[in-house]
Amino acid sequence: MAMVCLSDFEAYAKKYLPKIAWDFFAAGADDCITRDENILAYKRIYLRPRMLRDVSVMDIRTKLQGTEISFPVGIAPTGFHQLAWPDGEKSTARAAKAMNICYIASTYSTCTLEEISTAAPGSLQWFQLYIHRKRAVSQQLVQRAEALGFKGLVLTVDLPYTGKRRDDIRNGFRLPPHMKLKNLEGAFEVCKMSLLDPSVTWNDISWLRNLTYLPIIIKGILTKEDAELAIRHGVQGIIVSNHGGRQLDGGPATIDALVEIVEAVQDRIEVYLDGGIRKGSDVLKALALGAKCVFIGRPALWGLTYK
Ligand code: FNR
Repeated sequence: MAMVCLSDFEAYAKKYLPKIAWDFFAAGADDCITRDENILAYKRIYLRPRMLRDVSVMDIRTKLQGTEISFPVGIAPTGFHQLAWPDGEKSTARAAKAMNICYIASTYSTCTLEEISTAAPGSLQWFQLYIHRKRAVSQQLVQRAEALGFKGLVLTVDLPYTGKRRDDIRNGFRLPPHMKLKNLEGAFEVCKMSLLDPSVTWNDISWLRNLTYLPIIIKGILTKEDAELAIRHGVQGIIVSNHGGRQLDGGPATIDALVEIVEAVQDRIEVYLDGGIRKGSDVLKALALGAKCVFIGRPALWGLTYK
């Protein structure tokens, strides 16, 4: 059957992935209200179309932190790509390169940063970081990413603790033994508790700023107050994100949060968005409301499942 929209890839993935992997990709926190709201919110926004505007030639290229991409959709960082396809993040990297878009590789990748960068040389890749309890582990990852030619550092700030994803708990979800969080190998032995540091504050942004010359993009901002703090701490970009509704349930849809953030930022830094983007018209709505680019999380995993 012809695959004509992302829902077709979603149905394919649901049919062919092992249930435990499908549930992990689909999961939201608690009642999944925010996860579902990310999608529903687009359905409440209507376009105000203008006519007779000469659309015979269309140019949808844009720039992210100065680097040109073919169109304003990128791949959000998601972990464990080998659950979807044996080559994992290497395939994702190749696909992003073929489309000339930005791929944000997760700390929780099942391929190394070296493998990801070698799979798609010269393409636009950013590295997503969680701050580790042992700062030296994070520092080493940042330096590795910088040396490999990753062009941006995406700091995810909405995961001091992991959200309660009920199906994962019911399924006893864990990574199959033959897959590894390859970028953190060794780190697990050092630290038996959760690897991530819940004590991180804005002061740590200054620590990160001193570690790298890469642009820092903060992922997980949902209010104008935090957008203002992000600018004050010297970051170059914000991803308006609620982690696909996998973290704090009951927060706003990202498209609804975008408006106050764009208004507060006033073009001082770039503002991006992820969460619930499923159609070209969703991209259009986000751009019309001030996002420079959007990113997709789950749809990329469905695509990977489909090869
Ligand atoms: C994520 N997300 C995520 N974010 C992050 O910063 N680091 C990560 O490792 C992960 N891992 C991850 C795994 C899975 C399976 C999902 C679905 C999501 C969040 C991700 O970057 C993004 O914010 C959302 O996926 C966007 O929502 P959509 O496009 O999935 O609706």
